[in-house]
Amino acid sequence: MLTAKIIADADFVVAPLDRRIFGTFVEHMGRCVYGGIYEPGHPTATPEGFRQDVLDLTRELGVTLVRYPGGNFLSGYNWEDGVGPKEDRPVRLDLAWHSTETNQFGTNEFITWCRKAQLEPMFAVNVGTRGADEARHFLEYCNHPGGTYYSDLRRSHGHEQPHGVKFWCIGNEMDGPWQICAKTSAEYGRIAQETGKVMKWVDPTIELTACGSSQRAMPTYGKWEYEVLDQCFDQVDYISLHHYCRNDADDIHEFLATIDDLDHFIREVASIADAVAAKRRSKKRIMLSLDEWNVWYKASGPGDLKKPGWPEAPPLIEEVYNHEDALVVGGCLIVMMNNADRVKAGCLAQLVNVIGPIMTETGGPAWRQTIFHPFADCARHGRGEVLRLKVETGTFPTKAHGEVPSLLATIVRDPDTGAAALFALNRSVTDDMDLSVDLRGVADDLVIASATQLHDPDLKRTNTKAAPDAVSPVANPTAKLEGGRLTATLKRQSWNVVSLARG
Ligand code: AHR
Repeated sequence: MLTAKIIADADFVVAPLDRRIFGTFVEHMGRCVYGGIYEPGHPTATPEGFRQDVLDLTRELGVTLVRYPGGNFLSGYNWEDGVGPKEDRPVRLDLAWHSTETNQFGTNEFITWCRKAQLEPMFAVNVGTRGADEARHFLEYCNHPGGTYYSDLRRSHGHEQPHGVKFWCIGNEMDGPWQICAKTSAEYGRIAQETGKVMKWVDPTIELTACGSSQRAMPTYGKWEYEVLDQCFDQVDYISLHHYCRNDADDIHEFLATIDDLDHFIREVASIADAVAAKRRSKKRIMLSLDEWNVWYKASGPGDLKKPGWPEAPPLIEEVYNHEDALVVGGCLIVMMNNADRVKAGCLAQLVNVIGPIMTETGGPAWRQTIFHPFADCARHGRGEVLRLKVETGTFPTKAHGEVPSLLATIVRDPDTGAAALFALNRSVTDDMDLSVDLRGVADDLVIASATQLHDPDLKRTNTKAAPDAVSPVANPTAKLEGGRLTATLKRQSWNVVSLARG
């Protein structure tokens, strides 16, 4: 049995948690849109053609924000193709995913879906094949009240009120050679500067994200962030990070240690952004938008990324998640919360079918993948301020990451209600852990509202259509709160949540 100790004090706060970190991503890719959120012929379809079962699971997941329409798809997309009467919309080749795009789903359908799902849209503008001109027109279409060509075009499409989209990305992964019309940092930085400038002239209330590196392993990483921000520092509010954890060697210790790479990545990008600020003697702080992250390595071969011919909505990168993937996703969420002072938005990529927490069968049911559970736990209980913890834990050895702490944890406390939640990952695959949490100024008049654990002796267990709840949280009866001290036994290889509320 391992032991671990945490000291938390209500007066020591990292930052308020921006709940936009509980976002996801919908791309025109594979069966994410068609067969995912939109399937007019489905037995649960709404009058608009949305799958009600997916809408219900999206609500249950607790998603706050969704990025749209891509992804690599974005860099060849004409937003005009996806608005207006459906029968007039052009069918196009999508070069990003070698698919046929029917454009039966577009901007207005997405906004309507967001309203139904009660979440905020995050839009991205194409700076691959297009640029500032398209971006300003698209923003005018979405956000300008009326009386101009593009705002009146939206009204003629049945949307009298502006969509009021606040959060915008300037392009996607523009450093990647796979991107349609990829750019150098000098080219992209200049485009982001000018595009951002005109977009804020159209609507000064929006927030803008510049593309960071498409992954930490890119050869241009670091230099890219610096050179891009050096040009568009005054125009943008966020820089993006994309992070996909991999388990190529099928080594659970190394896989669980990849969670720490995300922490390094966040701190590095924040430092680079602050170096650009320092050069300008600026107090402005560029915040981080982790607008693509997940576990993704199994469904990433050529056959997963592209199907022969130009099929419509073919199944692409339909990763089937197992228990160990859920642990890594939970660990990444802890890292994001512990960096709440800089990470202000996050998008689990993607929402459904395409590396998604929700899986569907076209014409059939929808179910929760294993990674659904840690995300839903955090979105449900992660409210308020993240506390700065003192954590005492043992470590385990790894080849690539050295000694790695067995316990990863965070505590989020709502200063208004006093309610608090502990999220804890026991990364030991051999030993259960006795955890003791000294709650100073936190637990006064609180009781345990719920204590759950996600544990499976089989790290490879998955949820399937036949067994959709094989990996699901269960109650943890060991959790106790006495005299300001929370104690619980955390099973080996387990994800744990204890929620405390006023009695
Ligand atoms: O999420 C799948 C793809 O991964 C996105 O289209 C791209 O931005 C990233 O490389």
